[in-house]
Amino acid sequence: MNLNWFKKGVIYQIYPRSFNDSNNDGIGDLKGITSKLDYIKSLNVDIIWISPIFQSPNKDNGYDVSDYCAIMPEFGTMSDFDELLSEAHQRDLKIVLDLVPNHTSDEHKWFKQAKQSKNNPYRDFYIWKKPKPDGSPPNNWPSFFGGPAWTLHENTGEYYLHLFTKNQPDLNWENPKVRESIYEAMRFWLDKGVDGFRMDVVSLLSKDLNFKGVDPKIGFRKIIEKHYANGPKIHHYLHEMYEKVMKHYDAFSMGEGVGVTQDNAHLYVGEDRKELDMIYHFDILENNIINGKFEESSEFDLINIKKIFRNWQKVMTKGGWIANALGNHDFARLVSRFGNDKKYHKESAKMLITLMATQNGTLNIYQGDEIGMTNIHLKSIDQVNDVQSRNFYFENLETQKFSNDKALEMINNEGRDNARTPMQWNSEDQAGFSEHEPWLQVNPNYNIINVEQQINDSDSILSYYKTILALKKEHDVLSYGKFEEFEKNNKNIYAYTKTLGYQEIVVFLNFSQNENLIDYEFDNEKNYDILINNYRFVTKTLKNIELKPYQSLVFNIN
Ligand code: GLC
Ligand code: CA
Repeated sequence: MNLNWFKKGVIYQIYPRSFNDSNNDGIGDLKGITSKLDYIKSLNVDIIWISPIFQSPNKDNGYDVSDYCAIMPEFGTMSDFDELLSEAHQRDLKIVLDLVPNHTSDEHKWFKQAKQSKNNPYRDFYIWKKPKPDGSPPNNWPSFFGGPAWTLHENTGEYYLHLFTKNQPDLNWENPKVRESIYEAMRFWLDKGVDGFRMDVVSLLSKDLNFKGVDPKIGFRKIIEKHYANGPKIHHYLHEMYEKVMKHYDAFSMGEGVGVTQDNAHLYVGEDRKELDMIYHFDILENNIINGKFEESSEFDLINIKKIFRNWQKVMTKGGWIANALGNHDFARLVSRFGNDKKYHKESAKMLITLMATQNGTLNIYQGDEIGMTNIHLKSIDQVNDVQSRNFYFENLETQKFSNDKALEMINNEGRDNARTPMQWNSEDQAGFSEHEPWLQVNPNYNIINVEQQINDSDSILSYYKTILALKKEHDVLSYGKFEEFEKNNKNIYAYTKTLGYQEIVVFLNFSQNENLIDYEFDNEKNYDILINNYRFVTKTLKNIELKPYQSLVFNIN
């Protein structure tokens, strides 16, 4: 296996709008990030992925780009970016930008041109289709954010495809000029010295040109997998992107693998494939989402989670590489979803980072998770900002599939705003994020959960993150060890050993609020040194070990 720097490196994801506001207009910005680089460095992370910072009308908070080579004015200027990049590099932190190659904003100049007439040279930058004879859309594809994936452009009488909102028309990757234009933008940033890209929904670039309709009964997740992702030319495009752009730089690509499965992942990241460096998969993040967001979901099931981790390991043993995450800007807060954000807030947050830091695959940490930020409870739809949640709510108002209260409850449990509330720096007004009322309200628990309060507390979640990430730097076994599980069918405990050369560790994670006894025969010929423990004590005999609620315990065996 080729041990590139980004494999062991830990990625810290920043949602710039919510990270730190330097000029007190209520919106986080680039200077705000620069002023927090020492903080970020102190976490012992290596790479910063910044969600989109390019010019955008913000219909989807930057994931609707209107100019790939300009900075969004709300976030600052190009010289603010240059400063951020150079300050990060001085601290030996890498910067990874979020590239959105599947679609642009409808305010991008390409789309403005394309709309002018059917024979405009930019028409073919997007995907246009004639209406059906009765005037309806070309097929029944649903969009990710509710409603149909087609919108009629009245003046030219054709529909355009948008897998996301109608303000995010999909680019036509069949057109070599589209591909070259995106490559040019990539070179622009790479030439400045950025260290790579997170590539937004990159698995969707190649469309099935038959545009066959879908069977809605299979559920949205399957529709993505079968019809939207993994299209016929996807590997051709990604290989071309590698040849024409990525291979000429010391930079890496992390593909957002929407609809990519453990069965086809190696086609994207196999070392011999020369496509992407790693694939960010969704099986853990979507573990309880059966058909799609805001539909029926299932209960937390550790056995299923273990199975997912186990299966994705195989992609790496076959020579590919993956990225792991329990949270990002599109999902509810991890401690609220996978842990316990009340009585065992601290314990479960620490346990969850222990899980992530001891799995192979590049670890992605999302801003605020290092202090255990939690979901927010919004009281009315007027307080909701996220376009996906809002579309769901207003569509549901008409269909009444769920009561309005239930819809809001679902938004509070699953909605993207949970992860987008401003970073909680201290207990001052607006959590120290800004002196102005922020674009999205601060979680009211900021006076008990914030950086300032945790930074000097050696028992805090924040201190634990720093410690375990330092251990990950020191012990390669955490990042590359051979993984072996035991107690596979235990629904409360996740336990495994990892070995690399002469080093062996054993990891115990209690996912329940109860104490759990686990059979584990300690070898009395060997020493068991605690590498990290989220409780101060351990109860063990030679035959077994008792784990406290949400306890995580790692031994170094020698
Ligand atoms: C990705 C992004 C999400 C965005 C969508 C459309 O899933 O993570 O935030 O809305 O792509 O670009
Ligand atoms: Ca600002």
